[in-house]
Amino acid sequence: MRFRAFIGAFLVFVLLPAAVVYGHGDAAPQPVDTTGLPPLGDAWVASNPYRNDAKLHDTAVEIGSRGYNSNCARCHGLEVKSGGMAPDLRELGEGETEDAWFITRVLNGATVGGRQKMPPFHGLLNQEAIWAIRTYIDAQPN
Ligand code: HEC
Repeated sequence: MRFRAFIGAFLVFVLLPAAVVYGHGDAAPQPVDTTGLPPLGDAWVASNPYRNDAKLHDTAVEIGSRGYNSNCARCHGLEVKSGGMAPDLRELGEGETEDAWFITRVLNGATVGGRQKMPPFHGLLNQEAIWAIRTYIDAQPN
């Protein structure tokens, strides 16, 4: 009896919390499969290459949706509707200046007053993935 109670307690107090903590897969940056988007090369392009690309736009939105939901939604909100924890990304305009700001932020993250508020995605997401995420964000109704 004692042993069973011990096992029960072990399951509830040790394994369950561990599963909850480690089960939070979306807390770590997730690689994004960009199959379907031709490689853009090593040099970072300055503006979103998919915005006016009739052929690749929809593929970019689809891939960007996956990339956004696994890497950005936990802070910037589901369907890009911010819950207040981080800026509402639908409000960023769609021009080239905003593209440059977007890519800079995503690559470098954001540290405010010595505290990291957003992790850097440099080395984790390739530029196809980042521009696809940007395309997905811009496709959301504001
Ligand atoms: C851990 C939470 C967190 C995650 C994850 C995160 N962000 Fe952020 N992001 C923030 C916060 C907080 C800010 C505001 C930083 C500041 O105060 O300057 C921000 C700022 C930004 C900005 C600048 C917005 C503006 O209006 O100036 C962009 C663009 C951005 N994030 C894009 C992304 C993208 C794309 C992803 C996913 C690849 C992502 N973020 C993941 C928390 C996060």
